[in-house]
Amino acid sequence: MVSRRSFLSASMLTLLSAGGVKGLAEALDLRVEEVPVPVPRLCSELEGFRIVALSDFHFLPYTQIDFLKKAIQRASSLKPDLVVLLGDFVDATVESIHELAPVLATINARHGVMAVLGNHDHIQGSQVVVEALSRHGIEVLVNRGILLPCGLGGLYIAGTDSLSGRFQLREALLGSRPGGTTVLLAHEPDVADYVAADGRVNLQLSGHSHGGQVRCGGVERLLLPRGGRKYAFGSYKVGDLFVHTSRGLGTTGLPLRLGSPPEVTQLILTNAVDASRAG
Ligand SMILES: [Fe+2]
Repeated sequence: MVSRRSFLSASMLTLLSAGGVKGLAEALDLRVEEVPVPVPRLCSELEGFRIVALSDFHFLPYTQIDFLKKAIQRASSLKPDLVVLLGDFVDATVESIHELAPVLATINARHGVMAVLGNHDHIQGSQVVVEALSRHGIEVLVNRGILLPCGLGGLYIAGTDSLSGRFQLREALLGSRPGGTTVLLAHEPDVADYVAADGRVNLQLSGHSHGGQVRCGGVERLLLPRGGRKYAFGSYKVGDLFVHTSRGLGTTGLPLRLGSPPEVTQLILTNAVDASRAG
C-alpha cells in the first residue's frame, strides 16, 4: 500500500516537473487583497480603520529577505492604522528571527505592530522568537490583548497562542468590553467555530494554511495542515464572526506556490448598517 508520505512525494515530484518554473514565479507574485469588514455598532472613529495583515513568513531556507522586504514595504505603503503579523516567522531554524525582526520593525503603522506565534515558531523555539520581536518594539500577544481607546468599549486587539502552544481564548479575551469591537489574531483558522461560539469577537485573522500552497489536481486537500483545513483561505462568516484567512507570504516544504499566490491583506472596518445599505 502506498503511504501518504510516498503519495505526497510522488505528487510533488510530478508537480515540480510540470509546474516548477511557474510555481517558483508564483511564490514571488505578491498580491494585495482588500477586504471590507462589516462590524455592527462600529464607533464612528473606527469607520475606515485599516488593518494590514502579514502571515507565514517562513524566513529561510526558501523564503528570502528581499521578498519579505518587498511585502513589508507594500504593507507600509498602504498607510495602515495597525499592522498584525500572524505567525510562522521562522521555518528551518530559529536563528533566522534575528535577521527578520529588525526588518519587521521598519513597518510604519499609526498604532504599531502586533503579532502572534505560529506552530513553526513553537517547533523551532517560541521564546527566542518572542524575545527577538519584543526587543524590536513588536507587541507579541500570547493569550492577551491590548485596548485601543475609541468610543465606549474601544478596539480590543487580542491574540491567542498557536494550537501547538497553550491556546487560551478566555485569557486572550479578558480585556474585551461589551459595546466595543474585538479583533482576534489566531494562527490556525479552524479555531473559528470555537471563537464564534464564544460570541465576543467581531473579526478573526488567521494564516497557517498557505491556501494549500499548491492548489493543483486536488493535491491541496492533502497539503492543508491540521487546524487549517476548514477555513483554508479567504473570507468567511461563521455565525456573527467574520473570519479572514491569509494565504501568507512564504513557502514551506517546497519553494513554490501554484494557484495560491502570496498575500498582503488590507482589512477595512466599516459600519455593518452602512455596508448593507451600500450592498
Ligand atoms: Fe502554520
